[in-house]
Amino acid sequence: MESPFKADILKGKVAFITGGGSGIGFEISTQFGRHGAAVAIMGRRRHVLDAAAAALRSEGIRAFGFEGDVRKKEDAARVLEEAVKHFGKIDILVNGAAGNFLASPEDLSPNAFRTVIDIDSVGTYTMCHEALKYLKKGEQGKGPATGGLILNISATLHYTAAWYQIHVSAAKAAVDSVTRSLALEWGTDYDIRVNGIAPGPIEDTPGMRKLAPEEMQNKYSEFGPLYKLGEKWDIAMAALYLASDAGKYVNGTTLIVDGGLWLSRPRHISKEEVKKLSRVVEKKSRKSSVGVVTTSKL
Ligand SMILES: NC(=O)c1ccc[n+]([C@@H]2O[C@H](COP(=O)([O-])OP(=O)(O)OC[C@H]3O[C@@H](n4cnc5c(N)ncnc54)[C@H](OP(=O)(O)O)[C@@H]3O)[C@@H](O)[C@H]2O)c1
Repeated sequence: MESPFKADILKGKVAFITGGGSGIGFEISTQFGRHGAAVAIMGRRRHVLDAAAAALRSEGIRAFGFEGDVRKKEDAARVLEEAVKHFGKIDILVNGAAGNFLASPEDLSPNAFRTVIDIDSVGTYTMCHEALKYLKKGEQGKGPATGGLILNISATLHYTAAWYQIHVSAAKAAVDSVTRSLALEWGTDYDIRVNGIAPGPIEDTPGMRKLAPEEMQNKYSEFGPLYKLGEKWDIAMAALYLASDAGKYVNGTTLIVDGGLWLSRPRHISKEEVKKLSRVVEKKSRKSSVGVVTTSKL
């Protein structure tokens, strides 16, 4: 689908995207590139990064892949430094790297729980922490009064509770908290906007392939308010909005992009039943108010 945004809204910007080599992260890389940004992508698998960077470059996008693990502080520091050497600066950091799998709590070891927290929550914080010196106002490539932007990719699982995803729910709850705290502190001190995006189930992603087999994915249409899974494009458009000047007054928000799915629940009573019921209630209340008038007249 064509982007509704002008092609130059990120002209001159450099975006660093963890998990940018696949799925939602790759779509954000592509759309940021198509809207004028140079793109640094980070992940652990060299061949995935190379293929992704080549695909981006084939569209005329300035792109390069940097190999590293967000769980390691020294990797974070090294890849950010390499990206700055390569592109001259970093304006936008997108934290998309995450781990996920289904497991019931009784089968999930504390170590497995910790691994997901390490990638999603600690990894997000580590990247923010190491990127601060490039993102803050007055730094390389930024005016004395302007800073950069951080976008943390979250989820909606923890708004209620999600079966078999206690680890991811906890990890993303921490990510949202980091988003708000940094928005307060780094917004105030360094002119950095910090926002998040909470995608619903997005079709054609490694995440969905791992978590929900195709038959299960089709079932979403039965209870999703917009009657379909989201597209990677939907998340990339939200990222573009937040990264562009259109989002300049947005700070500390996690934008939910899920078609309203997290609000959905089974209809416990049909509309026809509601109509019938309300007619009965109305009749009863009319009768009792007549009663009140009669009594007061006495
Ligand atoms: N797909 C959905 O429906 C959905 C729904 C809600 C939220 N989300 C969120 O959206 C984001 C992308 O999801 P996706 O489904 O598109 O999955 P994905 O492509 O598998 O995203 C994970 C990416 O992160 C990288 N990564 C994982 N661990 C890493 C580490 N320790 N260090 C550096 N990079 C690491 C992976 O590359 P390597 O393995 O090569 O490192 C991969 O490129 C995630 O934050 C996810 O939680 C997705």
